[in-house]
Amino acid sequence: MQAKNASEYMAADVANVWHHLTLHKGVAPMIVVEGKGLRVKDVNGKEYLDATSGGVWCVNVGYGRDRIADAVCAQMKRMPYYAATCGNLPTIDFAGKILGYMPGLSRVYISNSGSEANEKAYKMVRLRAYNSATKAKKKILYRNRDYHGTTIGALSSTGQPERKECFDPFVPGFVELPHACCYRCAFGQSYPDCGVACAKAVEDVILKEGPDTVGGAIFEPITAGGGVIPPVPEYYKIVADILKKYGVLLIMDEVVCGMGRTGTMFGYQHYGAEPDIVTMAKGVASAYMPISCTVTTEKVFAALQDPSSTLSYFRDISTFGGCAAAATAALENVAIIEEENLLANVKAIGEHLLEGLKELLPHPKVGDVRGKGLLLGVEFVEDKGSKAPLPEAKVVELCGAMAKRGVLVGRTNRSFVGANNVVNLAPAYVVTRDDADLILKVLREAVAEVLG
Ligand SMILES: Cc1ncc(COP(=O)(O)O)c(C=O)c1O
Repeated sequence: MQAKNASEYMAADVANVWHHLTLHKGVAPMIVVEGKGLRVKDVNGKEYLDATSGGVWCVNVGYGRDRIADAVCAQMKRMPYYAATCGNLPTIDFAGKILGYMPGLSRVYISNSGSEANEKAYKMVRLRAYNSATKAKKKILYRNRDYHGTTIGALSSTGQPERKECFDPFVPGFVELPHACCYRCAFGQSYPDCGVACAKAVEDVILKEGPDTVGGAIFEPITAGGGVIPPVPEYYKIVADILKKYGVLLIMDEVVCGMGRTGTMFGYQHYGAEPDIVTMAKGVASAYMPISCTVTTEKVFAALQDPSSTLSYFRDISTFGGCAAAATAALENVAIIEEENLLANVKAIGEHLLEGLKELLPHPKVGDVRGKGLLLGVEFVEDKGSKAPLPEAKVVELCGAMAKRGVLVGRTNRSFVGANNVVNLAPAYVVTRDDADLILKVLREAVAEVLG
């Protein structure tokens, strides 16, 4: 039962709550009170089809999953928490389960956000360097347009200038690589004549920095918030060969793509890449509980354990990494994906949505349409010839026109100065063909209303 009515809640929200990524103007945002499947209801009783999986692509198995809530409740009653210096049963079961989907990887380190999972990966790279003869391979490469998190290390390794603005100085030792977006090729070329210059550029950067100083390179397998950018098929094969040549660890940030979002359990698996470290968060428990993982090969794990040195083990702890029920939620989440054969649905409906989005391409303000599985984006432009981005205010208006019609979509949000012009679709894996058709219809209507 609600303690206050809708307007009292809205007033209390305006008075007391500091919202994320929000310039407060005294107006309450949508207050979400319940959800089932793909649908959420706001505090005023208005229903929406949520094509964002909770705003930031994470409620992957949809709302209202009693079996997750029940399993979490039972585990909380039995044993809610003990520090992850010790073991707990759901974590042991989840680690075994997830490793079954990740050939070549063998150790799971639990924490509780995507940023934190990436910070762990960076600390692993640096400790590996410390344990080596030269102690020098501490630099980490990241890619322009990729996002790796909000903490200052993760932000330092993020290729989105507008997200970073005003938060300097950044952590030293992070070096940027060119992005892999064909629509805005960093080299002014076209695929395949480009010879995948963006992948080959990784070698140039390593040589410039000095191969003896570079220890890791992190990539979103498919850039998500930076504009939904699947690289060309051979991209990661080229990158991985270069990294191997110089002894640089390949870190895949699967915080968005991981656990099925793109139609394979992990995004890197579309590309035949063999990462040394994989991080994941949002989809691990479909955001029913906060949990993230940093998963490594046995080789990385072993490189951080040197019995002859007192400093040489992973001296890192995350208090909430010991919340046993978070791992319980993760176990239920993967069981739902398996039992309901959701990856097949992600692929089938993802292809249907992509085909539908492509029908928008003749519109003068639709520059590009891209994506894989249920991670899809439409890039809007002012003018197709110059590819000048549609102003962010227009993109906001477009998303508002969709919300007015009952469909929630995402967008690039204060990530690139003057270029936040991609609308994102990332519905939960239970999306049906009818839902997809509704999303497409509403998008077409909103485009017609706002852009003509
Ligand atoms: C690819 C990627 N990595 C890392 C993060 C950071 O995750 P969190 O917000 O859980 O710290 C995000 C969040 O959006 C993300 O999209």
